[in-house]
Amino acid sequence: MTRNLLQRALRISFRSGVVFSLAALPVCTVHAQNAPVNARMEHGRYLAVAGDCLACHTATDGKPFAGGLDLKTPFGIITTSNITSDKETGIGNWTFEQFDNAVRHGKGPNGHLYPAMPYTAYSQITDADIADLWEYIRTLPPVSYKVESNKLPFPYNIRTLLVFWNFLFFKDATFVPDSSKNDEINRGAYLAQSLGHCGTCHTPKNALGGDTKDTFQGASLQGWFAPDLTNNAHTGLGQWTADDIVTYLRSGTNRYTAASGPMTEAIVNSTQHLTDADLHAIAAYFKALPPRTVSPPQPLAASNAQVTAGQRDFMVECSACHRSSGAGISNMIPDLRNNPAVNASNPDSLLNIVLKGTEGPATHANPTGAAMPGFGWKLQDEQIANILTYIRNSWGNAAPALSAADVSKARTTISAQPAVPR
Ligand code: HEC
Ligand code: HEC
Ligand code: HEC
Repeated sequence: MTRNLLQRALRISFRSGVVFSLAALPVCTVHAQNAPVNARMEHGRYLAVAGDCLACHTATDGKPFAGGLDLKTPFGIITTSNITSDKETGIGNWTFEQFDNAVRHGKGPNGHLYPAMPYTAYSQITDADIADLWEYIRTLPPVSYKVESNKLPFPYNIRTLLVFWNFLFFKDATFVPDSSKNDEINRGAYLAQSLGHCGTCHTPKNALGGDTKDTFQGASLQGWFAPDLTNNAHTGLGQWTADDIVTYLRSGTNRYTAASGPMTEAIVNSTQHLTDADLHAIAAYFKALPPRTVSPPQPLAASNAQVTAGQRDFMVECSACHRSSGAGISNMIPDLRNNPAVNASNPDSLLNIVLKGTEGPATHANPTGAAMPGFGWKLQDEQIANILTYIRNSWGNAAPALSAADVSKARTTISAQPAVPR
């Protein structure tokens, strides 16, 4: 890729709405004598985008890579570090070994890092790629900004405890290709499991925050549900073709759905910038994953009282956009029919979207992301429970009913506004 193309490819529209460009950071000019180092730095820049380092290591309205973003974990708040080349407050004095220790092995100068930094995935980065990533990270312009990362309450603030956590849940090993799979699938597996850290959100966690064995089978995170990415046709990507996955990761939408919440950020900051070949590799990998083995439940009968009440409100509030058939509008308004996000037994994303509304990602491939208004202010808990129960049990969907108490609980979890009293 030429430098120009790469610069254009790296324009980033950030979550705060501020649009800035990585190309505004100093770019090494290509001198004949150090061309190899430059090529490695450019490659490292691409790897940093694939790893989405910027998203976590930049505070809302903060300087790129200077850290300071608060990440909420079930154990308390961890703040991301300054990884610019500032010698006092960043990692300007670090050697490659120290960088490698932190990113792939979860060891910082002051002890073990918390797995909120996804070293559990980055451990799989190859030796060549971690070296190129360093060539890029070490050139980040210095920003003097002091961050106190560890604000966790006792006993979670004790870094030594992570020795036990790592012992239980961390496999410190680089990626090993599966010789029974072709090169494309192995490339996709590498990207998804290492830099892409898709499992950070999509793999269910145990009580201590470690990955369970149900890799990529869907997980809840702070009021959202990151769905099953296996080939299960009811809850996963079974109905999607490889091209549907590529289109989604590049544009944020496809003929079935549109991304919301944390996936929007992953697409805007990271996946939309990946090369076609890498996106196809990721798609090929997920299409080759065996389906999650659970059978869909029986849908509720159309005569069920919640279903009929929900249908009435759906016709009034939702059908103008999603159509009475649930079909929506291709690449703009999600098709709610036989929709894995709707079928997920965990309703967190649906509740979030209906209570607060949602805005699709604006990407190069789809500059005008569509939006849906929030209904939290307008609809009572019982109405929302009925509408969602209706869509979860119509048009080929089947998923458990929701109660008014579920909606009320979600309002608290995601701080949605109360409904205007009737
Ligand atoms: C999901 C959020 C997240 C992503 C993505 C992420 N980091 Fe981090 N990173 C963190 C957090 C949180 C810490 C602080 C952990 C701690 O203090 O225990 C951290 C710490 C670090 C440190 C140690 C800094 C120090 O002073 O100890 C380095 C180096 C680092 N990250 C580099 C990277 C690179 C390179 C990438 C991209 C390949 C990346 N990070 C992506 C969250 C993230
Ligand atoms: C920061 C958390 C996070 C990360 C990292 C992440 N995802 Fe997601 N993803 C989500 C959430 C949440 C949703 C649900 C969004 C919605 O309902 O619109 C989602 C939705 C999806 C969907 C749509 C599924 C469907 O049935 O509608 C696909 C495909 C997907 N992610 C693939 C990936 C891949 C591939 C990666 C890694 C390159 C990845 N995700 C990384 C959180 C994440
Ligand atoms: C003004 C048009 C509009 C109305 C009215 C509307 N929606 Fe939406 N809906 C959208 C759009 C656009 C999206 C995709 C947003 C995005 O890109 O994140 C969406 C997304 C969704 C999703 C997520 C689907 C998926 O595949 O991730 C659900 C579920 C949903 N809407 C349900 C409803 C319900 C229930 C109502 C009525 C209470 C409703 N919508 C009313 C436009 C609308």
